[in-house]
Amino acid sequence: MPAMYKKLCIVAFLQLSAFFCIAQVTVQHLLTENLSNPIGLDNKAPRLSWQLSGTQRNIVQAAYEIRVSAGADGKKPVWNSGKVVSAQSVQVPYAGTALESRQRYTWQVRVWDNGGKASAWSSPAFWLTGMFSPTDWKAQWIQPGYAEESTLQASPLFRKEFSSGKKVGSATATITAHGLYEAQLNGRRIGDAYLTPGWTSYNKRLQYQVYDVTDLVKNGKNTIGVTLGSGWYRGFIAWGGQHNFYGKDLALLFQLEIRYSDGSSEIIASDGSWKATAGPIRNSEIYDGETIDGREEKTGWTLAGYNDAGWPSVKTAALPFEHLLASSSEPVRKHETFTGKRVFTTPKGEKLIDFGQNLVGWVVVKVKGKAGDKIRISHAEVLDKEGNFYTDNLRIAKAQDTYILKGDGEESFEPHFTFHGFRYIRIEGYPGELLPDHFTAVALYSDMPKTGSFQCSNTLVNQLQHNIEWGQQGNFLDVPTDCPQRDERLGWTGDAQVFSRTAAYIRGVDNFFAKWLKDVAADQGASGTVPFVIPNVLGKDDRSTGWSDVATIIPWNVYLAYGDKRVLEDQYPSMKAWVDYMKGQSRNDLWNTGSHFGDWLFYRPFDDNDGRSAVTDKYLIAQCFYAHSTELLIRTANVLGKTQDAADYGRLLKKIKDAFHREYVTPSGRLVSGTQTAYTLALQFDMLPEAERKQAAQRLVENIKDYRTHLTTGFLGTPYLCHVLSDYGYTDIAYKLLLQDSYPSWLYPVKMGATTIWERWDGIRPDSSFQTPGMNSFNHYSYGAIGDWMYRVVAGIDTYEDGPGYKHIRIQPHPGGGMTSVEADLQTYYGKVSSHWRVEEGGLLLDVEIPANTTASVYLPSWDGAMVTEGGKPLGSLKEIEVKGVETGWLILNLGSGSYHFGISGLRK
Ligand code: BGC
Repeated sequence: MPAMYKKLCIVAFLQLSAFFCIAQVTVQHLLTENLSNPIGLDNKAPRLSWQLSGTQRNIVQAAYEIRVSAGADGKKPVWNSGKVVSAQSVQVPYAGTALESRQRYTWQVRVWDNGGKASAWSSPAFWLTGMFSPTDWKAQWIQPGYAEESTLQASPLFRKEFSSGKKVGSATATITAHGLYEAQLNGRRIGDAYLTPGWTSYNKRLQYQVYDVTDLVKNGKNTIGVTLGSGWYRGFIAWGGQHNFYGKDLALLFQLEIRYSDGSSEIIASDGSWKATAGPIRNSEIYDGETIDGREEKTGWTLAGYNDAGWPSVKTAALPFEHLLASSSEPVRKHETFTGKRVFTTPKGEKLIDFGQNLVGWVVVKVKGKAGDKIRISHAEVLDKEGNFYTDNLRIAKAQDTYILKGDGEESFEPHFTFHGFRYIRIEGYPGELLPDHFTAVALYSDMPKTGSFQCSNTLVNQLQHNIEWGQQGNFLDVPTDCPQRDERLGWTGDAQVFSRTAAYIRGVDNFFAKWLKDVAADQGASGTVPFVIPNVLGKDDRSTGWSDVATIIPWNVYLAYGDKRVLEDQYPSMKAWVDYMKGQSRNDLWNTGSHFGDWLFYRPFDDNDGRSAVTDKYLIAQCFYAHSTELLIRTANVLGKTQDAADYGRLLKKIKDAFHREYVTPSGRLVSGTQTAYTLALQFDMLPEAERKQAAQRLVENIKDYRTHLTTGFLGTPYLCHVLSDYGYTDIAYKLLLQDSYPSWLYPVKMGATTIWERWDGIRPDSSFQTPGMNSFNHYSYGAIGDWMYRVVAGIDTYEDGPGYKHIRIQPHPGGGMTSVEADLQTYYGKVSSHWRVEEGGLLLDVEIPANTTASVYLPSWDGAMVTEGGKPLGSLKEIEVKGVETGWLILNLGSGSYHFGISGLRK
């Protein structure tokens, strides 16, 4: 090499090194199957994820090395990946020697960055495997040995004493039930999960939980105590007083495994030696609430030495083990607590407490009184026009908890196997003065990590965002429910798909949805039909457009939000079966048979004498979703390398769109239904030829103007409405819809005092009267689907499909709507993504955060020769920012990781 050239190379190398690797990269936030140190995984190749962090910009992982060891002391190596040249830091599958059941595995990772520098080994993380095979269970299914009182069905208590004489190294309890369970060891609660084992399609998939109980086992005598409740298994669920959907008898399966420090181990398992008797929970139903009789409490029953001589022995039952599986999603846990904001008496004379927030959970009551005093707590979401307690919208759900006092000093009550959706409680029979701090409302929901936050300069929009978040928190209770208060609370598929993309901004829903989607597949009909609710307690083999499309939409949204390819692999047969079902039902490529829910709860004024109702042809909608599901199947086939399928369904998609055009578009390009939903779906799903799209978007805008800038969409049109407007250059109209505060609009309920999203645009009418009580939930997340547009367009945080899960990030903020600032953050598997913008006189400030090991394209708005700086320096002087070009008024920059502070001045108006 000529000397001159050599010199140049050395200079270039030194510059690059100075640029890339000034500081050391560290590795943190280790996750196994997307969870932090999970206990009880039955996955044979769990996926490992980590985050890189460092102070410099443009950190990229060049290689990684993972090491995994087995055993309590973590000394037995089972895998060393060696140095793998790869940028993958999310969901790398374990590929060492075969994992064993009921073992602890410890792992660490180190990485090399793009400067070639190695990080230190991360701090260790671990996981514990669950039961890999039914034969791992030494426990037997047990049931009460006494005849159960048939109407109230008091909760049985199961009890077992055992001795442990040696030093305990570790101990785990593995538990499941037919019904719900709560377990104790030596008087202390096992774990902090509620409503376990959760809700799945029980007869096909029943989850167990594994708990680390090392600290609960004592030297000497120990006692296990477990209480069961009817729950979803045999309680009242769905309609018509339906009980015993999965079976009529409760049962427990419990296995405690103690490993002693001397290397020996012992299993204490449910078997015929356990005892059971009826406990103080006299009755417990999800819809109706719980009754606890303190006088029936068996004081000390979960402590050693309690005299259980009068308790009957349990009976063992030959129940199946084959469908048992480890819990893989975050359990339901207790979260926020609220003390009463106000104690007051209504015009009817009812004593109420207002907690200030519509929430889902229950109330913990502190009380002092006489034995036999009876307190009744009723729950409601709203007060009526006169200010009285309103429960008509709960339909036949009683939603009441009743406590009968034991009468020995201060007592504390809370339910165990029910939950309520409420903001207000009515208290009857309380002895003594009603003090707000004797009543604590506790929110319960699946413990999905909070990932998103959105704040802006408009306080009503912030309240809307709050309401969306609380809609999710209340209704993501192991399954995504439609509502939490009335006699329903079911996993309605349409609602879940409508809200899924918003949900993935607010909380980490990867595992939550992955679990529920397995039930979608499990309950899918043989012909490919996807039921209305999952788990399918309606029992019918049915389907509806926009509801059944959950089978394709949620897997795809999970893939986009988290890059989770396994969800696509697992769900592919289900996705395909659903599309094939529609294909099978179609004639001339038109899917236009049977009944459908359509654009549920669209705008329909009471006094509609002049046709203002926004009715959209149901088969037009069906054809749009048929195309959309097929499109998502094609994209999935491409991700999974199924090229033949991609080509076959590609041909089908063309035929579906041609048929749509023939049937639903007039020669002049008008849709046969002229509604906002019709135009929105046709544009969102690319149902129209390129040449007809612009005028369709204009028609949509005209329609919105005809309704004096109001939306008229129902469940199916709402999620896409503002996106379509933005895609076609009408973000200003989308903002007007967002900021509209008269009915129908997103801010109307906010102005009416809502703290959650309502089921209907006019749950409470302007004159304070209610919509029909048969269908009027004040906590229904579907219309909260606007949250996705707020994150994706207003703040402008999105992921590219070629780098899903925010490996390749798009930041494209859309200032507008008179807002002066927006701050949105999103915790991704790579780390935090931020987009904060602030409007300044004639300019804009944009702060962006891009996590390590990702890249981003940032779109700076209204570019028209404006002056752009980063960190106060002119853009052109910064080598690490690549100016990609200008596209329809946006200046596009390519960036690596780091924090960036852009200043844009001289914006055109
Ligand atoms: C539920 C919905 C659901 C709908 C379908 C209602 O009872 O609450 O949200 O999607 O039925 O008809």
